[in-house]
Amino acid sequence: MLDRGNTSVAGRPIADLAFEEARPEVRPVVGQNIRIARDGRLLLDVDELVVSGSGMTVLMGPNGAGKSLLLRCLANLVAPDSGTITWGGCQPDRARAARLGFVFQRPVLLRRSARANIRHALRAAGVSRGEAAERADQALAAARLSHLSRMPARRLSGGEQQRLALARAMALRPECLFLDEPTVNLDPASVAAIEATIIAAGRSGTKVLFVTHDSAQARRIATDILFMHDGQILERGEAARFFDAPGTAAARAFLAGDLVGEPGPEHRVRTA
Ligand SMILES: Nc1ncnc2c1ncn2[C@@H]1O[C@H](COP(=O)(O)OP(=O)(O)OP(=O)(O)O)[C@@H](O)[C@H]1O
Ligand SMILES: [Mg+2]
Repeated sequence: MLDRGNTSVAGRPIADLAFEEARPEVRPVVGQNIRIARDGRLLLDVDELVVSGSGMTVLMGPNGAGKSLLLRCLANLVAPDSGTITWGGCQPDRARAARLGFVFQRPVLLRRSARANIRHALRAAGVSRGEAAERADQALAAARLSHLSRMPARRLSGGEQQRLALARAMALRPECLFLDEPTVNLDPASVAAIEATIIAAGRSGTKVLFVTHDSAQARRIATDILFMHDGQILERGEAARFFDAPGTAAARAFLAGDLVGEPGPEHRVRTA
């Protein structure tokens, strides 16, 4: 387990600071019969996916499995060819978007300072000017970016931009946090700090959906696993059970570090 106190502000672990007031009500994000095909290839073929409750769901699978595409569908940024996405039982809408935090594989930051990026997101979500300033500073401290708060966000390093995108998402105190490989460019200390912050978010009641193709990272943080391959969710269930006894040849190959082959009928095993 991580040392959650490896960075502190005024003697308190930053991971706790970031989420001390967050007790969001988590309404489920549900995808049903999601299909996307391009150039005759079925990129996404997911019968049902329910993101709800609390804790850390890790969506894992090899490169090209469809993880990012699925996340973008759930975020309402890509419309599937067929199927439905609902947020709390309703159509996705702008008002609700502020309650769902997204950090994508390539962070999208505005052409303004690091601090202004966070403040802008908070103001757009209806947070008052004073509170937005306070929460932006707290989020920057939690991300260990206070010293860069006035820097143009796009001039930050790749890893710093990722930390800023995460800080911005978390400042909104979302009920669900959807993270697509948020630590992929980070050095080990930053990975540990971000994992600790995200774990704290999960513990405080935020639902986290975390995409990674790093099985060591998944073992460290997951409470449950969704395993994807070739556009399909092949396995879902408790993390310990998945790692001890993966139910599909694709997952076994993936965990062994082997190339994952084409999915056949034996790959279609689904566990609850
Ligand atoms: N707009 C698009 N048009 C055509 N193909 C696409 C499009 N978007 C994604 N794809 C394809 O869909 C497949 C899944 O892509 P996706 O980015 O979701 O994979 P991933 O699981 O996130 O992989 P990685 O681990 O490399 O990030 C890939 O083969 C990709 O080339
Ligand atoms: Mg991806």
